[in-house]
Amino acid sequence: MNKPVVLITGALTGIGRASALAFARAGADVVVSGRNPEQGQALVGELRKLGSESEFVQTDVRIDSEVRNLVDTTVKRFGRLDAAVNNAGTEGTPGAVTEQTEASYAATFDTNVLGVLLSMKHELRVMQEKGSGSIVNISSAYGKVGAAGASVYVASKHAVEGLTKSAALEVAASGIRVNAIAPGPIDTGMLDRFTGGNAKAKADFGAAMPMKRLGTGEEIAEAVVFVALGKAAFMTGQSLSVDGGVTAG
Ligand SMILES: NC(=O)c1ccc[n+]([C@@H]2O[C@H](COP(=O)([O-])OP(=O)(O)OC[C@H]3O[C@@H](n4cnc5c(N)ncnc54)[C@H](O)[C@@H]3O)[C@@H](O)[C@H]2O)c1
Repeated sequence: MNKPVVLITGALTGIGRASALAFARAGADVVVSGRNPEQGQALVGELRKLGSESEFVQTDVRIDSEVRNLVDTTVKRFGRLDAAVNNAGTEGTPGAVTEQTEASYAATFDTNVLGVLLSMKHELRVMQEKGSGSIVNISSAYGKVGAAGASVYVASKHAVEGLTKSAALEVAASGIRVNAIAPGPIDTGMLDRFTGGNAKAKADFGAAMPMKRLGTGEEIAEAVVFVALGKAAFMTGQSLSVDGGVTAG
């Protein structure tokens, strides 16, 4: 049987990187994308050591032609695209609604919303030709609840949830699944920045969670692999919370 071919956006750090390694361990060939070629090639080296025929494609998800190139390069190299993880994201500029600007809105929405839209546009184009495929968008617990001081990020992740459900309905009859994973607070560079680079603030964030800790990229990656590949075959249009219970209350 062919190895699954998976592409991941924003794959060079955090959840994206953990997902790339988890897919490689699960026997997939993984195309990793992001903006830093040195980091990209280093990750490709790690993935190849795990037996994955990995490639790096430099891609800024805000730019339509670069996303098109990512998808087309994947299909040219591997002949198909079985699954895609639209993970690239930014926390933007956290702060009160009254502090937000046109620029802070655009910086967040261009990556988190336009980036997911452009990614799905090109991924679905090739998946529809084949009549199969699976997309996983990385949303957030903040795609489900509000958060004081994070309105623009929260709104962008609610938009990811809406894009996921709508795209899923558009392609459900074509044999393609579209789902989201909604992580709670995960110990990555994004959370470091979100808590102002303050170790105590980050520890306090974890301590306030129902499970009294932050999640890890690897814990999200396990869920991403499950939803992306065949074992979740009847699941589409859903957003799976992997958040240590933070949205349960
Ligand atoms: N860390 C958390 O607590 C948390 C919680 C919920 C959701 N998320 C989501 O998980 C995803 C991954 O974040 P992370 O926590 O691993 O943080 P991270 O900062 O390590 O990862 C984000 C990645 O996206 C890349 N990226 C940003 N803008 C890009 C662009 N325009 N084009 C291409 N790549 C771009 C970054 O360079 C980085 O590699 C994001 O969508 C984030 O919103 C994170």
